[in-house]
Amino acid sequence: MSPTLAGLKVFVRTFGCQMNENDSEHISGVLVRAGAVKAGAPEDADVVVVNTCAVRQKSEEKLYSFLGRLSRLKKRRPFLLGVVGCVAQVRQAGLIERLPFVDFVAGPDNYLDLPEIIGRAAEAPVVRTDFGRDWREIGAEATCREAPWSAFVPVMEGCDNFCAYCIVPFSRGREKYRPLESVIGEVRAAVEAGAVEVQLLGQNVNSYRDPRSGVGFAALLDAVGAVPGIEWVRFITSHPKNFGDDIISAMAAGRKVCPALHLPLQSGSSRVLGRMNRGYTREDYLALVGRLRQSLPSLLLMTDVIVGFPGETEEDFEATCNLLRDIRFAGIFSFRYSPRPLTAAAAVPDDVPLEVKRRRLIALQALQKSIQAGIYGSFVGQDLRVLGTGPSPKGAGRFSGRTAGNLVVNFDSASDPSGRFLTVRITGSGPYSLRGQAI
Ligand code: SAH
Ligand code: SF4
Ligand code: F3S
Repeated sequence: MSPTLAGLKVFVRTFGCQMNENDSEHISGVLVRAGAVKAGAPEDADVVVVNTCAVRQKSEEKLYSFLGRLSRLKKRRPFLLGVVGCVAQVRQAGLIERLPFVDFVAGPDNYLDLPEIIGRAAEAPVVRTDFGRDWREIGAEATCREAPWSAFVPVMEGCDNFCAYCIVPFSRGREKYRPLESVIGEVRAAVEAGAVEVQLLGQNVNSYRDPRSGVGFAALLDAVGAVPGIEWVRFITSHPKNFGDDIISAMAAGRKVCPALHLPLQSGSSRVLGRMNRGYTREDYLALVGRLRQSLPSLLLMTDVIVGFPGETEEDFEATCNLLRDIRFAGIFSFRYSPRPLTAAAAVPDDVPLEVKRRRLIALQALQKSIQAGIYGSFVGQDLRVLGTGPSPKGAGRFSGRTAGNLVVNFDSASDPSGRFLTVRITGSGPYSLRGQAI
């Protein structure tokens, strides 16, 4: 019998990537299933759960300052405070030693146990950071989706790649794949609850293998796209070295897979890529983009770039800038390298000075901004299919949505179009969004 949290008010705060956002939807679901109710703010909660990201030093620093605020609140009004997710998994009991006001710590594989952990934490601190070897099913019914029309559906978790800079293999463990049948079951349930878009999640979705039949990611894309009611299928994150031609064919053949792809590059210098242990060269990446664009002419690419990886020279950095000019990504996430515990790169000197990292990041972002202005500008005058996502911060009559290519559109509309498809005539553009009028 699972212990009950009847009537307890819980607040969940999320840092990090889409997988963490989806995990928080699971955490809320598991707690609500055990009788808890959601609180609107930490001030109203009996239990505060902080779901954390460890990927960069800055992510962890942001967490500690948030926890500092909670510790002051806790002095005025007691509640149970839990730290879960990637920082919990990496720091384990060290978190409670450093921050004694934390009551429980739980890693990403331990969310089903949260009702029990919370029950025990009222008596004494609990640390639970076990890794299971197989996929752990939460149950689609235990998912409190933030936006019912767009469903995150995890298909795998963990990573076997050990890129030299990356903590994720330690915070999420080795790759585990979700049975295809169970993925499809959740997609069907999401459609019944109103979903028109699914976003398949995993740290490295391209290496997906159904643990029962052995079929790969291309077959999964076909199966998901075939679920009646699904209009748009997206997936994140892809690894360039695992992007087989079968996946390109599945994207091109199915009408449901959106022409948008997040394909992390990290660096445009083969020398740096080798030292990062990425498993591809600049030429491999360019060739893959060529194959993708040949099969999917309207494809928009997004990427991640790290500047200032140990040993990165001015010439390496220029090679990255040149590749950005050649490929013309529709968006990039760019980061200054920071050493992370347990990773291979943490053992070598972090030898690119902070001012150089800063300068390179600013230069890269300025270059990308000008490239993006051109890409966004090319859509002006077109009528685009847009999925409404809600009111935009710009004020009355203004709403936001996303195109199939995952560009943000702000537009005027007489009624709230959240979760509906509509056609928007594009009348203007900036480097980060389009403007238009619903027609
Ligand atoms: N599984 C995904 C996400 C990894 S984390 C992937 O393989 O791409 C998201 C991004 O954070 C990475 O793509 C990388 O660009 C960045 N990142 C990871 N570790 C970092 C570090 N130590 N310093 C700076 N950026 C880092
Ligand atoms: Fe990290 Fe590399 Fe795995 Fe991505 S592929 S999660 S960057 S180790
Ligand atoms: Fe961060 Fe963990 Fe996601 S480290 S990026 S929350 S997998």
